[in-house]
Amino acid sequence: MRTLLKRIRDSVFRVGWPRDERSAVRAMISSVTLHIHAPKVRPSTLRFRATWTLGLVSFLLLGILTITGIYLMFYYSPHPVAAFRSMKDLAFVVPFGTITRNMHRWGAHAMVIVVTTHMLRVFLSGGYKPPREANWVVGVMLWVLTLGLSFTGYLLPWDQLAFWAVTVGANMVGTIPGIGDSLRTLLLGDHSVGESALLRFYVLHCVVLPSLVGGLVAFHIFRVRKDGGLVTSEHEHEAAKESAGKGKGDGPKLVPSWPHLVYRELTVTLVVIVGLLVASLWFHAPLEPEADPTRTPNPAKAPWYFLGVQELAHYSAFWGGVFIPAAIVFGLCAVPYFDRDVKGSGRYFPRERWLANSLFIALLVFLTVVTVVGTYFRGPGWAFMYWPY
Ligand code: HEM
Repeated sequence: MRTLLKRIRDSVFRVGWPRDERSAVRAMISSVTLHIHAPKVRPSTLRFRATWTLGLVSFLLLGILTITGIYLMFYYSPHPVAAFRSMKDLAFVVPFGTITRNMHRWGAHAMVIVVTTHMLRVFLSGGYKPPREANWVVGVMLWVLTLGLSFTGYLLPWDQLAFWAVTVGANMVGTIPGIGDSLRTLLLGDHSVGESALLRFYVLHCVVLPSLVGGLVAFHIFRVRKDGGLVTSEHEHEAAKESAGKGKGDGPKLVPSWPHLVYRELTVTLVVIVGLLVASLWFHAPLEPEADPTRTPNPAKAPWYFLGVQELAHYSAFWGGVFIPAAIVFGLCAVPYFDRDVKGSGRYFPRERWLANSLFIALLVFLTVVTVVGTYFRGPGWAFMYWPY
């Protein structure tokens, strides 16, 4: 029996538990999950401040959202008559329905925040500079797709919050000059949010967008490695360029990824899972009364991450709701093709990068302020309230 078990184990794991540097490197190369990593890494990339672990946390949240999302799909029907009932079933009948829904909901909010903060971390350290320009653009796409995933999921509970938030979001799409109306109809499958919109959002949320995000994340992580690993200092930026095939050099001393990187990743994984689990036991995902197209809340608000755009659209539908958001996305994609000097990369507030970093922080502060105003300081008729409560 022991021999049989050993045979089965050896057929799966080609290398035993790593006991020295040589077997650690062999384990990293021969395992399908571990070979995503380089067998050896620069010690500077292991420090918390190199990444704030945000790329990994984004990846973990995506995994948790996929698993919890599949479980929710087993019980969910994308039809106006059945969708809200599915939510009630998840709350009262389905085993682990409430905790799974809570984890999915809070995980989705966390993902928007974590992916945005990861983008901030990469920007501040100049991680978009050559040879990483294309990977930065892939990142911007991932940011937009993450918002799209959250937005399409928002409608699925089919409660008042979902219905009106998506109505407001779709109306913003409608303000795009020339093509707005057609785009809005394409998104909703009708002139207003209804049966067709629910089905389209369901397909986008469960099939189209996750496939795009999954494919792009795989490419993104592959490119992090191929571009020479993370940027951690000006010297290492050069070394990274060299190991990406753009020059020659000794490069810094490396340490094996097992156990140094893998153990750190396992620790972060544990913290993220336990943290999300505890938050989901404590706080329940909201569920308002069933969607009622005849009862418009005042004010009707978009999901929180679009409330900044809604606030800007209040001043001018086109300039605030379409032009500024589009300029931000295209501007972000263009940055690495203009700001190419690698001086100061790998440090957070180097003198050489004061202008780029100040502009980026100013942009984030601006977006945060308009989001907070839209969320807390706007009352009925979008009138300004001096005190939110
Ligand atoms: C689903 C979303 C995302 C996932 C799962 C993801 C994952 C990762 C991982 C695991 C790393 C390496 C570790 C780290 O830097 O923390 C990384 C690095 C990187 N990410 Fe992302 N990322 C995502 C979104 C983004 C976004 C929105 C941007 C920028 C707009 C971006 C740009 C980059 C760049 C340029 C690097 C290399 C940075 C360097 O060398 O210092 N990523 N990402």
